[in-house]
Amino acid sequence: MTPASFRAMVVEETPDRHFVRRITQRAVTDLPKGDVLIKVHYSSLNYKDALSASGNKGVTRRYPHTPGVDAAGVVAESESGAFKVGDSVLVTGHDMGMNTSGGFGQFIRVPSQWVVPLPGTLTLRESMMLGTAGFTAALSLMRLEEAGVTPASGAILVTGATGGVGSLAVAILARAGYSVTAASGKPKAKEFLSELGANEFLDRQTILGAPDKALLTGRFAGAIDTVGGDILSYALRSTHYGGVVTCCGNAASPDLRLTVYPFILRGVRLIGIDSAECPMAVHHAIWERLAGPWKLPGLEKMTTEIRLVDLEDRITAMLAGGVTGRYLLNLKES
Ligand SMILES: NC(=O)c1ccc[n+]([C@@H]2O[C@H](COP(=O)([O-])OP(=O)(O)OC[C@H]3O[C@@H](n4cnc5c(N)ncnc54)[C@H](OP(=O)(O)O)[C@@H]3O)[C@@H](O)[C@H]2O)c1
Repeated sequence: MTPASFRAMVVEETPDRHFVRRITQRAVTDLPKGDVLIKVHYSSLNYKDALSASGNKGVTRRYPHTPGVDAAGVVAESESGAFKVGDSVLVTGHDMGMNTSGGFGQFIRVPSQWVVPLPGTLTLRESMMLGTAGFTAALSLMRLEEAGVTPASGAILVTGATGGVGSLAVAILARAGYSVTAASGKPKAKEFLSELGANEFLDRQTILGAPDKALLTGRFAGAIDTVGGDILSYALRSTHYGGVVTCCGNAASPDLRLTVYPFILRGVRLIGIDSAECPMAVHHAIWERLAGPWKLPGLEKMTTEIRLVDLEDRITAMLAGGVTGRYLLNLKES
């Protein structure tokens, strides 16, 4: 039986254009249209959620709003032939958590086209330890492989390596047999990164202090960049002949200072990654890998479980670049 109301984070815009976050009760009838109602057991905290929760209009145009680009749970009501009550499912991306009420609440209502059946070898909890971060890391590696990069090609640089996407990229690359260089602004996280499978640590300050040349020594066969700005520029300038770099984030900066030389002298390729709008066939292919050959045994070690009331502090830390690993949001006990 679906309850009339549920607990959720609600972000409100004040008349003087400040944004306040509260944990409150919401009515199920206030959820948007959709043919599947899901009781959310777990969500997770991603950088985009921190932006949505702090009033970033590039992510969320209309408030009041419940963020959360990730949700995993059980179907509570369904008007879709594809899902029945009791099915375990997950949703990542699309418009959820942006302008559609998201996973920082105990219920979501979404179009069935956004819903993925939970793969048999993953629990709901594991699926959200991965969430959009794991999905994006896996999509980045899939694009590198499609472009011909293999473990024999050489080392792969991961930037923002202690963050959600970064730490999962390190772990998935290591699981898939790659040698990984983890670049981070947190020297104290060296041990954490080596436990995830990183072979080498590169300090952010070393990257930012690199010569301002069009090309640097070609050290990497590829890179998974999560931060943008001068660090993405370094990755492209340090990639050897024929290498491939993926770009998914802008935690450092949306700008890219670069010449065309990595492209025209080394044939380096830059591939953009978008996890939100990519076709459902890609969603299914990625979750099959995350539940199969790229299934990670050590997810618990990189995850901190939190409740709705803990989000406030974690959002502030995330916006300051202070996150290590993943935050799993437990909605069953919130
Ligand atoms: N395109 C997509 O589909 C997609 C999907 C998911 C995420 N993203 C984007 O990917 C990025 C990472 O997301 P996330 O959820 O992993 O965030 P996160 O957990 O907060 O990780 C971001 C990491 O970036 C590094 N960082 C933060 N501020 C920095 C700065 N000023 N300069 C250099 N490095 C900095 C930090 O790692 P270190 O301290 O280890 O350097 C931080 O832990 C975000 O920009 C997010 O919007 C995009």
